[in-house]
Amino acid sequence: MTNAMLEPTMTTTDTSDKATMRAVIQHEYGRAEVLQLGIEPVPTPAPGEVLVRVVAAGLDRGVWHMVAGKPYLMRIMGFGLRRPKTRIPGMDLAGTVEAVGRGVTRFKAGDAVLGTAIGAGAFAEFAKLGESQLVHKPANLSFEQAAALPVSALAALKAVRDVAKVQAGQHVLVIGAGGGVGSYAVQIAKAQGARVTGVASTGKLKHVLELGADDVIDYTRQDFAQAGPRFDVILDIAGNRTLKHLRRALKPRGTLVIVGGENGGSWFGGIDRQLRAMLLSAFTRQKLTSFVSTVSQSALTDVARLAQDGAITPVVDRTFSLAQAPQAFEYLENAKARGKIVITTTLTAA
Ligand SMILES: NC(=O)c1ccc[n+]([C@@H]2O[C@H](COP(=O)([O-])OP(=O)(O)OC[C@H]3O[C@@H](n4cnc5c(N)ncnc54)[C@H](OP(=O)(O)O)[C@@H]3O)[C@@H](O)[C@H]2O)c1
Repeated sequence: MTNAMLEPTMTTTDTSDKATMRAVIQHEYGRAEVLQLGIEPVPTPAPGEVLVRVVAAGLDRGVWHMVAGKPYLMRIMGFGLRRPKTRIPGMDLAGTVEAVGRGVTRFKAGDAVLGTAIGAGAFAEFAKLGESQLVHKPANLSFEQAAALPVSALAALKAVRDVAKVQAGQHVLVIGAGGGVGSYAVQIAKAQGARVTGVASTGKLKHVLELGADDVIDYTRQDFAQAGPRFDVILDIAGNRTLKHLRRALKPRGTLVIVGGENGGSWFGGIDRQLRAMLLSAFTRQKLTSFVSTVSQSALTDVARLAQDGAITPVVDRTFSLAQAPQAFEYLENAKARGKIVITTTLTAA
């Protein structure tokens, strides 16, 4: 763990009397140690944009990849070759609307909202987002829960509902069931009426059962493929297992959806496995596929509605202050979180 307490440093050369805010800043790619607490100008919302006073911001694997600049393919794809184009990390956030730009009609100052600040940064006291990247926060969620919702729940919803098209009565295997995406995938598959088996390490089995899984497999002790092809759908969220291994557990007409998996290599991050799956799919009765989730207002509305109706409940494992961002990243790296990690602007450093 990083013990150093972050002290705010001036990171801008702007000497005007513009309002300033505390923000987590990174000037270079790297691990937790590249994160600093800095003072930045409060952004001004352009036409069509909303300025949000951030209460809580979600941390997930995607943010970790953007901070690390890995896989390197991401840098080539526009995140910045040598250093990140966006200096403030973070995407998911929840808070209250502070101001709106010209032409914004769906939000007004004081509204409680959640959303995804793509390319703008959420680990700060204020963030600006396009109107379509936000929805109103369900009243039954705390700001911390709301910040734990967008990216992970969107990925889970896309995997379960849109790609696998899970039907009532199907038997679904969720690999990585105790993490950010997996915790939602278990709940959404159950809401679709499926029978769900969750794969996790020993310490997360109870958590996965509490999410509603019918049964669990401890991957440190048991191989889910041991009993042969018994699953209609496999959601492969973690572990980077070979296609051969995964297919051994999948019924002859079953569907494998590769959502992600860490340690897939510094250059491609496992995307080669996803491409091989899609190629192979043309030659087998099994459907082998993958996807990249995108943020849209309609998808955000869908996950907010699922949370409002109680079909999914965001699980926040731990909350860190802005100053504790390096510790939050280290906690994520160790994959110990049950559900999500959240950074809040209201906590002072502990
Ligand atoms: N396709 C997309 O659009 C999309 C969108 C979002 C995320 N993703 C990707 O999805 C992956 C998961 O993201 P996340 O936010 O859920 O990460 P996370 O919160 O770290 O969860 C991953 C989970 O997998 C478990 N795990 C690790 N090794 C495992 C293994 N060998 N077998 C089974 N479970 C294992 C981990 O805990 P235990 O080992 O303790 O059980 C952890 O709970 C990442 O690679 C991310 O980049 C993709």
